[in-house]
Formats: sequence, structure tokens, C-alpha cells
Amino acid sequence: MTEIKDEERFRTIEDILAFAVQREEEAAAAYGTMIATAMTPGLKKLLGELLDEEKNHKRLLLELAEDRTVDREPENVTDLRISDYLISEPPHPDMGFQDLLIFAARKEHKAARLYSALALRSAKNGHRKLFEFLAGQEKTHKLRLESEYEKYVLGED
Ligand SMILES: [Fe+2]
Ligand SMILES: [Fe+2]
Repeated sequence: MTEIKDEERFRTIEDILAFAVQREEEAAAAYGTMIATAMTPGLKKLLGELLDEEKNHKRLLLELAEDRTVDREPENVTDLRISDYLISEPPHPDMGFQDLLIFAARKEHKAARLYSALALRSAKNGHRKLFEFLAGQEKTHKLRLESEYEKYVLGED
């Protein structure tokens, strides 16, 4: 049960949602910072899209907190597992861009695991569906970041 340690301290859905909203804000801010140092227009575009989706996640979580209906279908996403096997260091000011990609992919992996764990523990159908949707989106983010890593760092087409 160590992998769900993060949410063991949560007592109420409000705690969970507040934590998730905070994580989404951090993710959006991190992509904002990365966009400034991205080397190519394609990379800037990708990071901008991820930033927008994190903002949307925050909005969906806030809607759920207000108990408005949220209905999104989860999707199946391939996991390249590249970042799982690389050492990730905490970010520092002169961190190379490839390290930032890996760091971000690892954060996405954690976000996906958090939402999957929350989905499993949700009693309400609407909550479970949103958490499953968000888990799918974070898995997609991980995939897109790892695909960029492959393209730019491993030099594949
Ligand atoms: Fe997110
Ligand atoms: Fe994400």
C-alpha cells in the first residue's frame, strides 16, 4: 500500500480535491517555466498544450468540488516506460532540458497513479469517472513527454 501513501492522509473528498487542485497548479506552472527554455517551436507547442490541459484539470476538479456533473470517458494509453528507468534528480536552475523532460514525465506518472488510486477508492460514480479520465490524461502527458525525449535525445524519427 506504499504507493498510495499520498492520499492516506485525506479524510474528505474536499481534502483530496484541494490537494489535486494544488498539484494541477504546480504542473501548469512547471510547464510555463519549461516553455521559456524549450528549444524548438514543436516542443513549445507541446508544452503549451500540456499547460492548457493541466489548467482544464484544475477546472474539472473545481467543478466536481462544487458537485456539478462531470462526465468524461477514460481512454487507454500506451506506456513507453522510458522515464521509469532513468534516475531523476530534483530540478535545479541549470538542469538540462532532457532532464526536465524526464522529471516532468515522472511527475505525470505520479499524477496518473494518484488519480488511479483515487478512482479505485471513489464511491460515487461521477467522482470515479472523473478520476479515471484524469488518470488517462496524465498517462497521455507522460507518453507525449517520453516521445519527445525519444525524438530529441535518443535521436529517433
Ligand atoms: Fe493534470
Ligand atoms: Fe499532466
